[in-house]
Amino acid sequence: VNIILLGPPGAGKGTQARRLVEGRGMVQLSTGDMLREARSSGTEMGKRVAEVMDRGELVTDEIVIGLIREKLAENGNGFIFDGFPRTLAQADALSALLDEVGQNLDAVIEMRVDDAALVRRITGRFTCGNCGEVYHDETKPTQKPGVCDVCGSTDLRRRADDNEESLRTRLLEYYKKTSPLIGYYYAKDKLSHVDGLGEIGDVAKSIAEIVDR
Ligand code: AP5
Ligand code: ZN
Repeated sequence: VNIILLGPPGAGKGTQARRLVEGRGMVQLSTGDMLREARSSGTEMGKRVAEVMDRGELVTDEIVIGLIREKLAENGNGFIFDGFPRTLAQADALSALLDEVGQNLDAVIEMRVDDAALVRRITGRFTCGNCGEVYHDETKPTQKPGVCDVCGSTDLRRRADDNEESLRTRLLEYYKKTSPLIGYYYAKDKLSHVDGLGEIGDVAKSIAEIVDR
């Protein structure tokens, strides 16, 4: 099963993708994570995209499509596209790439969360630099302060783009460039939605129902 998790910054795409990886052995393809990896490894591409990301703008279609293309060979138990596609050009490119590797897109799951909640989620977020677990100051704190529950690492980080100003830009980019994908996938008869405002476990259940359909 290949699915897209679609939603604004902070909707919970990464959190839910990780659960699907653990529970079902699906492969998470997060272009945000790939770009952050490129930044921290200091590649030429990483340096070029760092400023764009910190401002909260989208990097070019060419770069992200290239990143996804490289990963489609490693198929496991299906792909979870997290944060990709984000433009109509990326959506068209994805359908061509899936065709090339003989794969289908099964569902696009729109995660609906209201804008005020997004600001709270993003400004309270931190992640484990070692294993990638996602936390929140209020809704999902670590059990021991400063220590990752999953791997015990003390390398807990906040993202450079998780401030209110960059978040405004990310939201604007979402409404201008990404939200048209909702209509696009509705027209292709792929769209479902879940209420992303509930507890993490409840949102996971709603997503599982769609994946198992
Ligand atoms: P990316 O890394 O994709 O960031 P994003 O889309 O802004 O999404 P986030 O990671 O911020 O949010 P999320 O929905 O994954 O939420 P999370 O699960 O962490 O992209 C970053 C940048 O890279 C972009 O701005 C752009 O520059 C570039 N980029 C990436 N892909 C690109 C592309 N395709 N094209 C062009 N540019 C691209 O949850 C958020 C918080 O809420 C956490 O603290 C979590 O613990 C908490 N939380 C989650 N679910 C719940 C819940 N149900 N209840 C309470 N709290 C919850
Ligand atoms: Zn960890």
